[in-house]
Amino acid sequence: MDIYFAPMEGMTPPLLRTLHNEFFGGCDKYFTPFISTNENYSLNQKEKKDIDPELNKGLNLVPQIISNSAEQSAGYIMNISGKYGYKEININMGCPSGTVVSKNKGSGMLKDKKFLEEYMDELFSFLYDGKENVPDISIKTRIGFYSEDEHKELTDLIMAHPVKQVIIHPRSRVRMYEGSTNLDAFTYMYDALKSAGIGVVYNGDIKTPEDYERISKDYPDLDAVMIGRGLLSDPSLARRIKGGKCVDNEEYLSYMEALLNGYAEQLGNDKHILAKMKDLWNLAKPAFSGNEKGFKDMSKADTIESYRVCMRQFIRNSKLL
Ligand SMILES: Cc1cc2nc3c(=O)[nH]c(=O)nc-3n(C[C@H](O)[C@H](O)[C@H](O)COP(=O)(O)O)c2cc1C
Repeated sequence: MDIYFAPMEGMTPPLLRTLHNEFFGGCDKYFTPFISTNENYSLNQKEKKDIDPELNKGLNLVPQIISNSAEQSAGYIMNISGKYGYKEININMGCPSGTVVSKNKGSGMLKDKKFLEEYMDELFSFLYDGKENVPDISIKTRIGFYSEDEHKELTDLIMAHPVKQVIIHPRSRVRMYEGSTNLDAFTYMYDALKSAGIGVVYNGDIKTPEDYERISKDYPDLDAVMIGRGLLSDPSLARRIKGGKCVDNEEYLSYMEALLNGYAEQLGNDKHILAKMKDLWNLAKPAFSGNEKGFKDMSKADTIESYRVCMRQFIRNSKLL
């Protein structure tokens, strides 16, 4: 079973993805955070970097788009795959953020199933109107917008279209990331999609090799599990799942220093660099315990050099995992 590194806007730029792959490996695919389509069919600088193969060396990378327009989606899919040679494009139907949902994008697409059906009908007719080299289309979705009972209707709708693989986060949009994942709904979708020949990937709350074992035992025919936050706190999680060693403090430190140096080179400005590191540490912190004072000192550091010193002390003097 494969392991995918989840896309996380603001957290998993090319720098983190390539460093993660070099230091720890274990992930079979990485996904870009979403690229939002627009009527000019243009990409901003950040989006260009996100998919630039030169900046993503060594990765098996899947670009992800987010849209509410079938025509724009088809245009982006063909442009991105045609220009850079990507063989798969992922469509985001799961993002729960208010600004995204209000535009009927991300999980906002799940609000109105008629809208979603029309989007999918149009998308696949645009893509398969005689075009050559159409990439595989995968979907990353939740199991409903308002309610988790929407999962059956959603499954029928997906099954009526030539989707290659579905990555399922088994929560509705209203649940955001709260509460436990709904494994009854996931089981229904897994059985139905698999029997229709569509690949299934589980995503949600995999934080330890034991979490992975439970899912892979209950769903042995999964194509993959996708892990997000778990890989930001324990970057060796995929490696461990595949039988490799757990990260130790010195390896963690080398990885974080490489990230700090990389951001320093890219961003220049101390404030921006520190903001990036602090955002990352908010999700990395659960791997560490026993040194609250060290974490506070690190969070308060306001120059790169003092941050570097505090980070070293924090990582070396904390209990890891
Ligand atoms: C800060 C943050 C940014 C995210 N950005 C994206 C995104 O751009 N595209 C996407 O499909 N999912 C995004 N997600 C959702 C993750 O890919 C993943 O589905 C979610 O974190 C649940 O998986 P986990 O429990 O393994 O973390 C984001 C999640 C977080 C926490």
